[in-house]
Amino acid sequence: MLVLLAGGAGYIGSHTAVELMAAGHDVIIVDNYSNSCPEAVERIAELAGRPVQAYEADVKDKAAMLAIFQQNKVDCVIHFAGLKAVGESVRKPLEYYRNNIDTTLTLLEAMRECGVPSIVFSSSATVYGEENPYPYIETMPHGSCSNPYGWTKSMMEQILEDAAKADPGLSVVLLRYFNPIGAHASGRIGEDPQGVPNNLMPYVAQVAVGRRDHLTIFGNDYPTPDGTCRRDHIHVVDLADGHVKAVEYAASHKGAEVFNLGTGTPYSVLEIVHAFERNSEKSVKFEFGPRREGDLAEFWANADKAAAVLGWKAERTLDDMCRDTWKWQSMNPQGYRSESE
Ligand code: NAD
Ligand code: UD1
Repeated sequence: MLVLLAGGAGYIGSHTAVELMAAGHDVIIVDNYSNSCPEAVERIAELAGRPVQAYEADVKDKAAMLAIFQQNKVDCVIHFAGLKAVGESVRKPLEYYRNNIDTTLTLLEAMRECGVPSIVFSSSATVYGEENPYPYIETMPHGSCSNPYGWTKSMMEQILEDAAKADPGLSVVLLRYFNPIGAHASGRIGEDPQGVPNNLMPYVAQVAVGRRDHLTIFGNDYPTPDGTCRRDHIHVVDLADGHVKAVEYAASHKGAEVFNLGTGTPYSVLEIVHAFERNSEKSVKFEFGPRREGDLAEFWANADKAAAVLGWKAERTLDDMCRDTWKWQSMNPQGYRSESE
């Protein structure tokens, strides 16, 4: 199949491109490099052992998307192209609603005009909101989100489900990611956040490599076994494999389906720090600080549906996640910039 990856130069898109190509599919990447760089595409091609077609374009640019769909007979789109920083979304809600909703509408319109039959969407556990009990299961209703980023995911799921209801020829797969971490085992591609990392694992890795002095753990008075928050961390290559299954599933089904992609096992912030120290043989200095606004004490996935329907299950362990993150970080201390500058 020919799969178009909107936002495919980013963290999850780059790993998915490699796994899709390893499974025998062809990919096209469309990215405006607002949060990534062309070097990632070079490395995808290196890992896949064959060239990758990439277009520098804004997914909101309908004329550009129509031209790409007219030049290539795309079987499926994966929509990764979103802004994703929770704190920034609170400060810049209009930018988040414009980019995330508009990319989705533009893709759906261009797909309809060019007869592209299926789309896989990067959603998030954040759509379960604050009300649902964990483990989260797909049959639960959407909850209320604590920030504009989360609301864009909730709204985009609704838009995609409505589009599938109205068009019997359209297949929509909504993938709700839990907490993706890790990197390709080669250390050639990985997560490369711009500026100060918002998320736990890239921050831990930057402390270990000496780019940051210490980690602040946001709260140690939660009602969890060690007082720090617990999350369902999933290796990004397992997540990428979930996309391969989703693309293949979408080719033979119509309508909308939603799947959790998580491991079903939570780890605490302290467990992550200690596992990282063990696997990197570096010490990670930390101090406890106040809770971060909007954080939930703990949540994790019920991942049974993906196992039963897609035949997908996360295989990699927390040690794999830490070891591979460290390999990427230690080989690329400044991210992709270390080789290209
Ligand atoms: P990322 O920022 O690394 O990748 C997103 C890519 O989209 C980037 O390469 C960026 O340049 C591109 N992009 C953004 N807007 C664009 C536009 N208008 N036109 C063209 N390209 C555009 O993020 P990621 O971690 O790979 O996440 C991918 C998707 O998964 C996002 O939609 C994100 O919200 C979602 N998600 C991520 C996580 C996570 O923890 N990383 C968790 C849940 C959901
Ligand atoms: C966050 C987003 C969520 C998004 C997800 C993946 C919030 C409230 N939620 O989830 O919408 O889908 O990222 O991109 O931001 N932590 C520290 N110190 C740090 C960084 C994090 O202690 O420097 C703690 C956090 O308090 C949290 C845990 O580590 O308890 C995980 O944080 P993070 O990696 O940001 O993920 P989430 O908060 O689960």
